[in-house]
Amino acid sequence: MAAPVVDAEYLRQVDRARRDLRALISNKGCAPIMLRLAWHDAGTYDVNTKTGGANGSIRFEEEHSHGANAGLKIALDLLEPIKARNPRITYADLYQLAGVVAVEVTGGPTVEFVPGRRDSSVCPREGRLPDAKKGAPHLRDIFYRMGLTDKDIVALSGGHTLGKAHPERSGFDGAWTKEPLKFDNSYFLELLKGESEGLLQLPTDKALLTDPEFRRYVELYAKDEDAFFKDYAESHKKLSELGFTPR
Ligand code: HEM
Repeated sequence: MAAPVVDAEYLRQVDRARRDLRALISNKGCAPIMLRLAWHDAGTYDVNTKTGGANGSIRFEEEHSHGANAGLKIALDLLEPIKARNPRITYADLYQLAGVVAVEVTGGPTVEFVPGRRDSSVCPREGRLPDAKKGAPHLRDIFYRMGLTDKDIVALSGGHTLGKAHPERSGFDGAWTKEPLKFDNSYFLELLKGESEGLLQLPTDKALLTDPEFRRYVELYAKDEDAFFKDYAESHKKLSELGFTPR
């Protein structure tokens, strides 16, 4: 599909959608699933073939029915009224804006949002998102394919400061932190503490401790929340723009 024309009316709708999203996300407490939706739309990017990415293709059943996307139909449906009220905005932009607002309203850093993503109706084949049962080499395979770095991997894994796993969606159960609706650096503090009663650590989370290159970022972010917020905001912006070149 053609790139949207980002004129004054488009920007007006982006502003209104941002306000609509703030209201929706605070009223429904749905920041975690909105962040996960934004990440799963973008995280299919392949830097070599320039396919996938933040292009709204997750709106199609063909893609949101992939195992890794279990539960995300809830988020897609919650966003439909906002799309209807702001019809110029592409799905690709709306999903990334939802991710940015989710981080903002839960107390996280401001992630710069540049509009103009085009919608695609081509869905990537299943299997481009990470498998939580695997380790550091797999994380590198997946994130390097997106064109991202070790620092991005650790900073973005800090997104697990929000939300929880649901047995009926992923087979995992529980939250990573004690306040799953607050965006802070507690994910890294809990990771360094080790397993604790009632909290979750996926094999891919634990891989950030065993790999020395990853671990140095874990230690930095645990002791310096400002450093985490700064790096997270940069990495999230990169993630939100996979497959999109702002003009
Ligand atoms: C939830 C895996 C990276 C944000 C989950 C769940 C799994 C998972 C298994 C549970 C889903 C459920 O049962 O509802 C992974 C793996 C990653 C990864 C293997 C590789 C590093 C990320 C990134 C972000 C993110 C980069 C965002 C920046 C979230 C959020 C939730 C979540 C916010 C909670 C969703 C909710 O509460 O409904 N992730 N994830 N994850 N993930 Fe990740």
